[in-house]
Amino acid sequence: MAHPLSGQLTGKVAFITGAGRGIGRGIALILAERGAAVCISDISSSESESVAGEIKQAGGKALAAPSDVTDAASVANAAQLAIRRLGKIDIAVANAGVIGAKGFENRDRYNEDDWDMTYGVNVRGLVHTADAVIPHMKERRQGRIINISSQGGRTPRGVRLVANTITPYLVSKAAAIQWTHALAIEMGPYNISVNTVCPGLLWTPMFDRIAQQNITADPSLRGKTPHEVFEMSVKARVPLGRAQTPEDIGRAVAFLASDDASEITGQALNVNGGSIMS
Ligand SMILES: NC(=O)c1ccc[n+]([C@@H]2O[C@H](COP(=O)([O-])OP(=O)(O)OC[C@H]3O[C@@H](n4cnc5c(N)ncnc54)[C@H](O)[C@@H]3O)[C@@H](O)[C@H]2O)c1
Repeated sequence: MAHPLSGQLTGKVAFITGAGRGIGRGIALILAERGAAVCISDISSSESESVAGEIKQAGGKALAAPSDVTDAASVANAAQLAIRRLGKIDIAVANAGVIGAKGFENRDRYNEDDWDMTYGVNVRGLVHTADAVIPHMKERRQGRIINISSQGGRTPRGVRLVANTITPYLVSKAAAIQWTHALAIEMGPYNISVNTVCPGLLWTPMFDRIAQQNITADPSLRGKTPHEVFEMSVKARVPLGRAQTPEDIGRAVAFLASDDASEITGQALNVNGGSIMS
């Protein structure tokens, strides 16, 4: 039987960054299931192609248009390709994110490279993604921009087991929320809404790196696997007692992209099983 919301986004086109795996892939699968045509834009060409292929195989409409969100021209080119090939962009999801620079998981404290990397992707990347679609959305006087932040952007608590060493990431994710607020005010007159989804704890390649870094920084975790550390976090923090899935985040994005959310802008929505509540 078809999903009751399967037609929710029929006729819409979504552009999603970092959609080659993890949460971005989950968002793409849900938006496609709800009827949207989706443009998969990841820095990895092979992963962009693979997710687009998966969606087409399931009967959906998808296009791979790889881009590096740290490079404004690269995202703008990918968005232009989506507009040419899919006709328009109604929904832009700025999901691409990183926890730190290369080798972060082996350091017990962040360094300059981690600040540059998290700011380049998690903050400037959101700005570049918005810049790539805003002229088109303004012209059409409609659009939905959805940024993926983190519950760690609301409070530094709730992300790891011991003292924070993912500080650059947390600060970049707070910036993503403030960026959402500022852009929502700027874009309101053009009927473009801007919202954030703040995911909780998800077992993706990103969390694997966080858990590895926890083990590096906290001797009491030595001998545990990254997945065991992740499970400890979930058990300690989540009232609903379970991790979230990429599809859970996709369903929140689908809601914010739908007609049901037409009066919602400038908001940050936690999808975290209750692990933080503000
Ligand atoms: N996993 C979690 O528990 C969690 C929790 C809260 C928020 N988030 C956020 O959700 C988003 C997705 O996280 P994930 O867990 O799926 O991570 P992930 O590392 O599994 O996937 C991130 C994707 O982004 C792509 N990417 C990285 N740099 C890029 C760039 N410069 N340009 C384009 N694409 C790039 C990667 O190739 C990858 O496909 C991130 O913004 C992350 O901060 C994740």
